[in-house]
Amino acid sequence: MQMEFYEVINTRRSIRLYKKDKVPEEALICILEAARIAPSGHNRQFWKFYIVKNEDRKLKVAEACGGQKWIADAPIVVVAVGWKVPFSRGGYMGEMSFIMDVSIAFTQLILAARAEGLGTCWIGDFQNKEVKEALELPDDENVVAVTPLGYPDKGVFNENTSRKPLAEIVEEM
Ligand SMILES: Cc1cc2nc3c(=O)[nH]c(=O)nc-3n(C[C@H](O)[C@H](O)[C@H](O)COP(=O)(O)O)c2cc1C
Repeated sequence: MQMEFYEVINTRRSIRLYKKDKVPEEALICILEAARIAPSGHNRQFWKFYIVKNEDRKLKVAEACGGQKWIADAPIVVVAVGWKVPFSRGGYMGEMSFIMDVSIAFTQLILAARAEGLGTCWIGDFQNKEVKEALELPDDENVVAVTPLGYPDKGVFNENTSRKPLAEIVEEM
């Protein structure tokens, strides 16, 4: 049975402890489909998702993520990249709009992973150049986000999390 949408977003947590168990191929496809279907400006879909399973490569990526070696403990590390946008329909983000597009797709990927009972942790602390070197990526690709992907060790989905109250972050005008 599929998990209800609000349960997915309310119980997603950054997971930093992983079991070695493999990610089933069907679950992986569902998660990647969730990213594929994401909206993007002008529907340009300037994104690509590398599914890193090779142990050496995972470790190199983890090292390029500020030495967060625990990332490599997960059976998969996902590296999301994008390309600079050669046209801009206005807006100050210009050629860097791909960062927004890839982030939306990556959010969908992370939520779909939760729905499949899989853990993720959005990793923003990485060196673009070092991750690219580790995976021998083309020059024009830029890393936007990284996440380990695998089954959480222990029931960590239920850990408490703290957020600002609505009254602090919402203003009616
Ligand atoms: C853009 C971004 C970058 C992040 N970078 C890291 C990171 O490098 N390492 C890490 O352990 N967690 C990282 N996180 C996870 C945050 O610490 C986490 O989302 C936040 O503390 C809230 O906890 P929760 O995800 O469990 O709700 C990042 C999250 C985001 C959205």
